[in-house]
Amino acid sequence: SPAKRTASAQPSPPAPAHNGASPKKRKVVEFDHEAEQEAAQRRAAGPGQNGANGANGVNGAQHGTLKGKRWTKEDKQRAKEEALRLLPGRKALPVWGGKDAILEGVQKNDTVIVLADTGSGKTTQIPQFLVRSSIPCDAPRIVCTQPRRVAATSLAKRVSDEMGTQLGGLVGYTVRFDDRSSRATRLKYATDGALLAEMLADRDLDKYDVVVLDEAHERSLRTDMLMGFLKDIQQRRKDKVRAFQADKGKGKARPSAQNGEAAAANGANGDKAADSRDPTELKIVVMSATIDAKRFSDFFNNAPVLYVQGRQHKVAMHYATEPQPDFCDAALKTVFQIHNKLPPGDILVFLPGQDEIDSLAASINAYLPDLEKTKPNLGTLLVTPLYAKLPPTDQAKAFAPTPPNTRKVILSTNIAETSVTIPGVRFVVDSGLAKEKRYHAGTGIDSLVTESISQSSAKQRAGRAGREADGYCFRLYTEASFNALEKRSQPEIQRVSLTFALLHLLANGQDDVFKFHYMDRPDKDAIIYAMMTLHGLDALDGKGRITAVGRKMANLPLDPVFARVVLASFAEGCPREMLDLVALLGSKDQLLSVPSAVRDQATAARQKFVHRSGDHLMLLNMLRAYEELDGKDERKAWCRENFVSHKAMLAVLDARKQLRERVERLQLGDWEATAGDEPEPILNALIGGLFANTALRQEDGTYRHTLTKQPVAIHPASTLHNKKIPAIVYDELVLTTRTYARTVSAIEPTQIRAKAPAMFAKSLQ
Ligand code: CDP
Ligand code: MG
Repeated sequence: SPAKRTASAQPSPPAPAHNGASPKKRKVVEFDHEAEQEAAQRRAAGPGQNGANGANGVNGAQHGTLKGKRWTKEDKQRAKEEALRLLPGRKALPVWGGKDAILEGVQKNDTVIVLADTGSGKTTQIPQFLVRSSIPCDAPRIVCTQPRRVAATSLAKRVSDEMGTQLGGLVGYTVRFDDRSSRATRLKYATDGALLAEMLADRDLDKYDVVVLDEAHERSLRTDMLMGFLKDIQQRRKDKVRAFQADKGKGKARPSAQNGEAAAANGANGDKAADSRDPTELKIVVMSATIDAKRFSDFFNNAPVLYVQGRQHKVAMHYATEPQPDFCDAALKTVFQIHNKLPPGDILVFLPGQDEIDSLAASINAYLPDLEKTKPNLGTLLVTPLYAKLPPTDQAKAFAPTPPNTRKVILSTNIAETSVTIPGVRFVVDSGLAKEKRYHAGTGIDSLVTESISQSSAKQRAGRAGREADGYCFRLYTEASFNALEKRSQPEIQRVSLTFALLHLLANGQDDVFKFHYMDRPDKDAIIYAMMTLHGLDALDGKGRITAVGRKMANLPLDPVFARVVLASFAEGCPREMLDLVALLGSKDQLLSVPSAVRDQATAARQKFVHRSGDHLMLLNMLRAYEELDGKDERKAWCRENFVSHKAMLAVLDARKQLRERVERLQLGDWEATAGDEPEPILNALIGGLFANTALRQEDGTYRHTLTKQPVAIHPASTLHNKKIPAIVYDELVLTTRTYARTVSAIEPTQIRAKAPAMFAKSLQ
């Protein structure tokens, strides 16, 4: 009878997912949403039953303090209904078929590799399977890494919705300068960089029972570093468990608190909570989208590989018949051909970067009125750009449902290649290009260049067309060019500067950086060059050992050169301005990026902030003008007038707050010390870290890099473009038609040698 069903549907503790771990008596937080949701479904199906009846305690895990407003009863109810609505879709995902096998694999092995196509449910579902299991202990704590910030935050939100909880409670995230997690958090999405930073305080990651390395195929620098560290951590955790059990046998072990909430409730913060838990072994799950599994398996001592059969539909491939001289033009034609001739479905266009995206968006929109006039029945095109620097509200438009009688055209960088799923896409147009960070060995220059993608990337891109139905992929290059592409992309560790990586290896106790477990070993010269740079920054002593300065640098959430700049600012008496500035630089692109159509207008509006010394002081001027306004409305209006992203400005203030807190905690000095209106101390502090980013004006009016003498030009977007300045310091070089320096300030040539004597005296002469 329905009444009986209701009774049996009361939430009951989940059965231990696996034999072996016999559950001891415990009082842990139970959250069995899925069981409860199913129960609610049954109740809803039963005659006269109210689906909302009798469901309580779903949010029981959330007693911690959450950022944001406290949830009302109605909020909880709404969340529960939303979770229930999402459940059937989740159960239809391919990984649900492999749930038992995956859990058994994790139970029986230290490490497992899970392979499944993009969109199979790896990232959203597998961590949920784990958090609901009792592997390797009751109430396990899971951290799932993401190479990209936007993926970490948006996935945490999605999974929190799926579990019917408030973000920052049971499910949370940690990314640089933004932490939405609490003592109640049991499943955390974190950027790989954020997890690395946690290791400085929690060397063995004792806070977690399972580390899920997601998007491992991307081989980001920080994921590779984590993989190397995790091998040793796993061993040390085993040793700890063994020692603990031996002590317990001898009756020496301290009485242990329970895992889960009881332990969390003990400490004021997560670290303490971790301290009071019994040591557990660390499980590792490596998740990847491509089929290059053997490398991962070999690396992790022949870890088993679990394949999840996806539901990839057929994708019809079309190649260009001849090489295309202008891929933007080719993309434009292809988009309109698809729209004119092919069935409904959204179009995803892969382009290298924002400039190409802006320019193609403008072209498509320019042709639209014509199309609507000549073919009024065809429906219109809605262009939505998607790239990492785009403010989140604009990014969301790419994911929003397509309006009726409309075909959406998403213009994306390789951000849409693997890490995000956009519903509704049936057509992929692939330029075959991506912007990649590249490090030029010997010159020490890190730059962003447009390069051909690999075959494995091209396949990933094509696959995006076959998620929901049969699709089409148009490659804007010939089949011969495809065959000539590299098989797989080069791991980031082999193409970027290693200063960050090596500083962190040393700060984490890896004394011999040559002996680290690299999955792919970086170039020896690149390691040596990075060691020299770190030495120049005073982070290493003459024997390659980390110094006190180096430790402070590693503890600042900044690139080593900017960490050094912050330390230098204390010596120069301008930490207040410098923390403002590095916070601004961190969001610079989102802050000031505008579509090319209004670029001139934006430049004109910002003219009043221009400073004679260049772009850095101009950024500071903008922040000051913004902060002089009081009300939120005034500040928003100011942002509109000056083409500044208000959201990015809030992110700057948040980043600065966290930097100030960090500086206080590290006891670096009084960050309130200020240089007032004096630009020189600020510029001198910049040179203290960025001395390798300086160039000198030559007699013919061009600039050459101070050390390598290679030609450098001031970027046209800089306020110092076309100005005659004897020496410049800059944030980064971009290689397009020329090597351009971006974010540039004028400096005294003599200061370069004065502020970075180590680099010149010890290393490079
Ligand atoms: O990690 P993987 O690519 O295997 O899949 P996922 O990120 O877990 O996504 C699984 C499915 O969840 C996608 O196909 C989407 O339908 C859905 N999803 C969503 O609707 N919104 C999100 N923010 C994330 C995923
Ligand atoms: Mg994923």
